[in-house]
Amino acid sequence: MTIFLALLLAAPLRAGDSSPALVFISGGKEALRLTAEDLAKRPGARTVEVRDPFYKSLKRYKAVALKDLLTAAYGGAWSENALSEVFFDALDGYRSHVKVSVLMNDGGMLAFADADAPDWRPMPQGALPGPFYLVWTGPEQTKEKGFPWPWQLARVKMAVLEDEYPRALPHGAAPDSAAGRGWTTFKRSCLSCHSMNGDGGTVGPDLNAPRGITRYQDKRFLKPFIRKASSYRRTKMPDFEDLGPAELNELMAYFDHMSDISGTK
Ligand code: HEC
Repeated sequence: MTIFLALLLAAPLRAGDSSPALVFISGGKEALRLTAEDLAKRPGARTVEVRDPFYKSLKRYKAVALKDLLTAAYGGAWSENALSEVFFDALDGYRSHVKVSVLMNDGGMLAFADADAPDWRPMPQGALPGPFYLVWTGPEQTKEKGFPWPWQLARVKMAVLEDEYPRALPHGAAPDSAAGRGWTTFKRSCLSCHSMNGDGGTVGPDLNAPRGITRYQDKRFLKPFIRKASSYRRTKMPDFEDLGPAELNELMAYFDHMSDISGTK
């Protein structure tokens, strides 16, 4: 009976605690945890208007400056970590990363509510951008110009990319070799969705474990597929029509190299 009562009493408490939180990690430890309610109470909280690249229209969000949150989580000197990146973990396994220097720009706002829709509004592809969504107020601060707009955010982590993803590095390949340049492209365009040996995003499949992708898929298929996956399948894999033949060959060299060094067939 006592146990039964205790369970009954505990249930509403747990429900109250379960509102989603954005967690900031540093050095493997939780540095800050904020719910939408916490964010709304912060002094800098305000409504911003942005040209939203997903809705392709003007949108209004309740938001707090990301720089202020990074300072609250990591201290005033966070921007001096020039070699570090900030990793954004989304609920669907998307894991983008951006150099600290990009986030030093004013205009990055962490949205915690759609100012015109209490429960957010689905984006054209169907997903909700909440609970937390990074938007940029400057008209030039677009995805194309390298400003990240990650949605469904759950975790923010500051780390050096080589420490975070050691198993994705093309060890033994010079930076200006074909495999080294392929890694640069992979890091920029692919790693947020794909892992190599388990290191990276989890929206798409791992491309080296247990087998290297170029060991079982023909490069004559892979190269045009990577440029324009939408012409093969209905897929979450975006098109990369700006990748030229040289960059596609370099990606192949990176895949070959990774499979060589990990001994996968
Ligand atoms: C937004 C997420 C996303 C990004 C970014 C992305 N992919 Fe994908 N990719 C996927 C998903 C999801 C799949 C699995 C579904 C499919 O094959 O259509 C996939 C599949 C693949 C496959 C497997 C094809 C096969 O049938 O064996 C390859 C190879 C691939 N991606 C390479 C890349 C490369 C190279 C890049 C960067 C230039 C990249 N992807 C960027 C999501 C992504």
